[in-house]
Amino acid sequence: ARPVGPGRYEVTQRVAAAEILPGLRTEVWGYGGTFPGPTFELRRGEPVTVAVRNELPVPTSTHLHGGVTPPGSDGYPTDLVVPAGAPPHPAHPGEVHHPLVKEYRYPVGQRAATLWYHDHRMDFTAPQVWRGLAGMALVRDEEEDALPLPRGERELPLMICDRAFEEDGSFRYPRAHRSGHGEHGGRGRLDGDYMEGVEGDVILVNGAPWPVAEVTATRYRLRLLNASNARRYLLRLAPGGRFTQIGSDSGLLAAPVTHDAIPISPGERYDVVVDFSGYPVGTAVTLVNALADGPAGNVMGFVVTRRAPDDSAVPAVLSRPPGRPRPVATRRFDFRATDGAWTINGHRYRPGVPLARPRVGTAEVWRLTGDFRHPVHVHLAHFQVLARNGRPPAATDAGWKDTVDVGPYEVVDVLARFDGHRGTYMLHCHNLEHEDMAMMADFEVI
Ligand code: C2O
Ligand code: CU
Ligand code: CU
Repeated sequence: ARPVGPGRYEVTQRVAAAEILPGLRTEVWGYGGTFPGPTFELRRGEPVTVAVRNELPVPTSTHLHGGVTPPGSDGYPTDLVVPAGAPPHPAHPGEVHHPLVKEYRYPVGQRAATLWYHDHRMDFTAPQVWRGLAGMALVRDEEEDALPLPRGERELPLMICDRAFEEDGSFRYPRAHRSGHGEHGGRGRLDGDYMEGVEGDVILVNGAPWPVAEVTATRYRLRLLNASNARRYLLRLAPGGRFTQIGSDSGLLAAPVTHDAIPISPGERYDVVVDFSGYPVGTAVTLVNALADGPAGNVMGFVVTRRAPDDSAVPAVLSRPPGRPRPVATRRFDFRATDGAWTINGHRYRPGVPLARPRVGTAEVWRLTGDFRHPVHVHLAHFQVLARNGRPPAATDAGWKDTVDVGPYEVVDVLARFDGHRGTYMLHCHNLEHEDMAMMADFEVI
């Protein structure tokens, strides 16, 4: 994305045609008319304004995922940019309509991190993201600039998501989603087809199916984002190889951690370095998803084309992330099906009714539990995973995060810091079908 003036961007959401599958035309709803939308390069301490203009046939709300953003620009689900000629009556109590354009203000006061943005419209986030309303935003800072990490062409932001297609190339999103799910009332009912979320059989990386990247036999930095509605991945390298993790959702780790496999649930990011000098020139290396069989088990390929000089390195000390503050409270959030809806603490989403009121500048332990697999995401607050089932967390849970996978009947304790802004934010399941089926709650930072 290119700024149109100092710290100012303008992006238009519109219907456009893309060639995703060879020879076929797919209608996308894209930021800037592309899928994914443009990648924003942001710098810590340089605030930006993004004017989002909505030329789609539906209302939208834009959320910067992982952003420490004031509440008025956080993409609250009923804070909508409505298209020209939209009906004047709000569908939900408290709904706000911005005709055609809304200016979102991002202070960008946070550490370097891999963020992303996507639609967050009440009840319709899943189908609207599926049609293309998502993109990446990279925050950089001086701490990161000083590191000799791979950069330029050797730094690859990789937005991974699955989609299903009709024979004519259009996106296939199950239609039954609309049953009992009108603009007024009836929302939040469980629907057999959606209960587990919607998955597709085609894996896209930056909008292209199973791409192959040519790489030199050097280190590469891969910024992995799972932007899928509901699919989880366990990423591995074939015919073998390891990932050196340097960052998590909310920025650089204190020190690198090496993994054979990376589990990544919807909304999560892993910032990793892969050293292709470990493979003979000519090797085809595949990023695979060990959780899927068949075509969906392949994510993308790399072909090692030649040797090349490499002055990059992964230092033993990467950053000085904020330490763990002492928690002032403990709360529980239970994610489960209750009376035919996906609920948090027994409630379907009630906009404007906070389930918690943490104080600004404090930290709390949030105990997350559930009946099914739920990738739990918290707006504004970053957290560290303290424990899983009372035991130390997995090596892949390291760092400050904003999304954590909570497995069936698992108990995950996180330490969350409420910094930067007061106001109303959300926590929710990032399985987007669960989110639309009401698995969302407000909290108010006071
Ligand atoms: Cu990425 Cu509230 O979501
Ligand atoms: Cu978010
Ligand atoms: Cu869920």
